[in-house]
Amino acid sequence: MAVFWCLVTAAALFAPVVNGYKGFRTSLTLRDFKEQMEEREMKEARILSRDDDLEKLYPAHTIQMPIDHFHNDSLYEPHSNATFPLRYWFDVSHYKPGGPVIVLQGGETDGADRLPFLQKGIVAQLSQATNGLGVIFEHRYYGESHPTPDFSTENLRFLTTDQALADQAYFAQNVVFPGLEHLNLTSHNVPYIAYGGSYAGSVVAFLRKLYPDVYWGAIASSGVPEAIYDYWEYYEAARIYAPKECIEATQKLTHAVDNVLMNYTDTEYPKRIKNIFGLGNVTRNDDFANAISQGIAGLQGLNWDPAVNSTEFGYYCANISSTEALYPEIASREAEARELLAVGGYEGDDAVNLVNQLLNYIGYVDATAVKRCKARGRSQDDCFTNYNSTFYRQDDIRQEWRLWAYQYCFEWGYLQTGSGVPADQLPLISRLINIEFSSTVCREAFNITTPSQVERINKHGGVNISYPRLAHVDGEWDPWRAASPHRIGLPSRESTVSEPFILIEGGVHHWDENGLFPNETRPGLPPRPVAEAQRAEAEFVKVWVKEWRVARGEMIEDDDMRDL
Ligand SMILES: *[C@@H]1O[C@H](CO)[C@@H](O)[C@H](O)[C@H]1NC(C)=O
Ligand SMILES: *[C@@H]1O[C@H](CO)[C@@H](O)[C@H](O)[C@H]1NC(C)=O
Ligand SMILES: *[C@@H]1O[C@H](CO)[C@@H](O)[C@H](O)[C@H]1NC(C)=O
Ligand SMILES: *[C@@H]1O[C@H](CO)[C@@H](O)[C@H](O)[C@H]1NC(C)=O
Ligand SMILES: *[C@@H]1O[C@H](CO)[C@@H](O)[C@H](O)[C@H]1NC(C)=O
Ligand SMILES: *[C@@H]1O[C@H](CO)[C@@H](O)[C@H](O)[C@H]1NC(C)=O
Ligand SMILES: *[C@@H]1O[C@H](CO)[C@@H](O)[C@H](O)[C@H]1NC(C)=O
Ligand SMILES: *[C@@H]1O[C@H](CO)[C@@H](O)[C@H](O)[C@H]1NC(C)=O
Ligand SMILES: *[C@@H]1O[C@H](CO)[C@@H](O)[C@H](O)[C@H]1NC(C)=O
Ligand SMILES: *[C@@H]1O[C@H](CO)[C@@H](O)[C@H](O)[C@H]1NC(C)=O
Ligand SMILES: *[C@@H]1O[C@H](CO)[C@@H](O)[C@H](O)[C@H]1NC(C)=O
Repeated sequence: MAVFWCLVTAAALFAPVVNGYKGFRTSLTLRDFKEQMEEREMKEARILSRDDDLEKLYPAHTIQMPIDHFHNDSLYEPHSNATFPLRYWFDVSHYKPGGPVIVLQGGETDGADRLPFLQKGIVAQLSQATNGLGVIFEHRYYGESHPTPDFSTENLRFLTTDQALADQAYFAQNVVFPGLEHLNLTSHNVPYIAYGGSYAGSVVAFLRKLYPDVYWGAIASSGVPEAIYDYWEYYEAARIYAPKECIEATQKLTHAVDNVLMNYTDTEYPKRIKNIFGLGNVTRNDDFANAISQGIAGLQGLNWDPAVNSTEFGYYCANISSTEALYPEIASREAEARELLAVGGYEGDDAVNLVNQLLNYIGYVDATAVKRCKARGRSQDDCFTNYNSTFYRQDDIRQEWRLWAYQYCFEWGYLQTGSGVPADQLPLISRLINIEFSSTVCREAFNITTPSQVERINKHGGVNISYPRLAHVDGEWDPWRAASPHRIGLPSRESTVSEPFILIEGGVHHWDENGLFPNETRPGLPPRPVAEAQRAEAEFVKVWVKEWRVARGEMIEDDDMRDL
């Protein structure tokens, strides 16, 4: 099987579509946690107004799941013998006897958010190709699959990757699908194939390795099997693949601002640089540095699927790359901009384009952050600070921001810093964004004061993880590539039917997960590299299912299995 090298034009990646898609992120700050709460409220309002078609089309079911699969591990003391209802959704429209069960691990979000993949994304595609039964499996604690009455740190002790893996295995061994009670569709009788994107991609990779008799095959898409505490490499994808002008401007302006903030601490300059961004009321310099660094983080939100595409990155780059002044209303700040750039180390020839670029950066931050904060009538510290013990102490069942934060503080890490960038390289975010800043939530919310226990994760092989019938599908431009088997610098692997190894050219974060109805496709949509990855997945899963039948003595090997 070939590795797919096809082109997606850069133009196709930067057109403007705005929406709130955030996806898998770490090093979240208090500002992001508040946004999550607001999004939750909006979603609840939407459900109340009953325009939630997919949840009507695919009603949720539950399976009684043990809260604690590991009574032999003191980590979970005091243990629990109780069970909780864990949600799942399924679709039998492609199912025919002999077909596999395809289980998509929902990962660190409400499982209902994954329903589009059951309707027309990868689960629908794989089910159609194999006569399979598609399932969306909610991860414990997320959505409505709550093992505990609140999210206090003590009650979060059952929120580990090990327990989540055991859930997904237990499901395959015990599920009885409503309406299909006459069929025994457990993993004893039917091949189970797991799919996951991002964190969930690592989960299914480990699942295949730890429960090989339960899950016959697994596809890790943009999986991140290597936990890394200081994940400064998050921004390497942008540095390498984003437009050169955008990166150069970001590096130089970040450097200039850092020089002002870090070299002139006892002068008026830090205050002046905050003022020129309209953020003079942000008390702390690290909060300020964080407030102005949101644009460059937008790369991950690019998607070929119009339903989830984010324009943030394209807008940011268009602003900061422009050497023409885009905001006439702040032209009066030019002299101040020039002086601050000089203090920050950029003057004369070095500053020719940078003055306008700094002004455009200021205009961009004004439009995307300063004005929005003002419109909410909040103080700037309230909008932008990462420090508020009162906030972090909240631990009732609505505080969903605690869940993924707990997981990364406890075992996954991935704190996205500017400080970790090697000294001979200019970072894309401020060096003030360091481990201390990024781990604030760990200390304040969970009293976790030591580095994440990444060895709990990396014992499964890290980026070198490999197992028969375990596929790795990654995106060339994915910020998470450095935590995946497609990490740049690792020896390339041969892609085989048993261990498919596919890099989606120009792809970002699990781009093979989304899909369109036939009446929504157009030339170039889905992009060829995505369509080819999906086609390959359907083909190798078909072979895996045949292998299962051969192993069971239900059929003998055929040509397809040898040729692919
Ligand atoms: C997604 O956004 C990009 C850039 O913002 C744009 O060029 C592309 O047309 C969009 N794709 C779709 C399918 O809307
Ligand atoms: C608990 O048992 C499981 C097998 O059921 C084993 O894999 C694991 O290592 C054990 N954990 C401890 C802490 O002994
Ligand atoms: C769980 O069940 C076991 C065996 O029945 C029992 O020994 C143990 O005390 C129970 N634990 C809890 C926390 O109820
Ligand atoms: C399904 O079959 C297996 C053995 O083939 C059996 O162990 C299991 O209990 C059955 N499950 C159900 C729900 O009937
Ligand atoms: C900054 O703080 C001052 C003094 O409290 C207040 O008058 C001003 O409106 C604040 N500016 C912004 C943009 O919040
Ligand atoms: C600059 O960014 C703003 C805010 O996102 C956006 O509205 C505007 O279109 C961008 N300008 C350009 C030239 O892309
Ligand atoms: C800031 O301080 C660093 C470390 O002392 C030094 O390398 C750098 O040249 C300084 N930059 C400016 C613009 O003063
Ligand atoms: C801190 O968080 C609490 C709880 O969300 C909130 O009521 C308060 O306004 C916040 N204070 C500041 C200064 O942001
Ligand atoms: C935080 O943890 C430390 C050490 O584990 C413990 O001594 C301290 O009491 C804890 N603090 C809180 C507020 O729980
Ligand atoms: C993965 O393999 C590479 C080269 O084969 C090696 O340099 C690296 O240390 C390995 N990483 C881990 C986490 O084992
Ligand atoms: C496209 O196809 C889907 C699925 O068959 C259908 O539900 C939808 O109504 C169609 N949309 C249009 C605009 O025809």
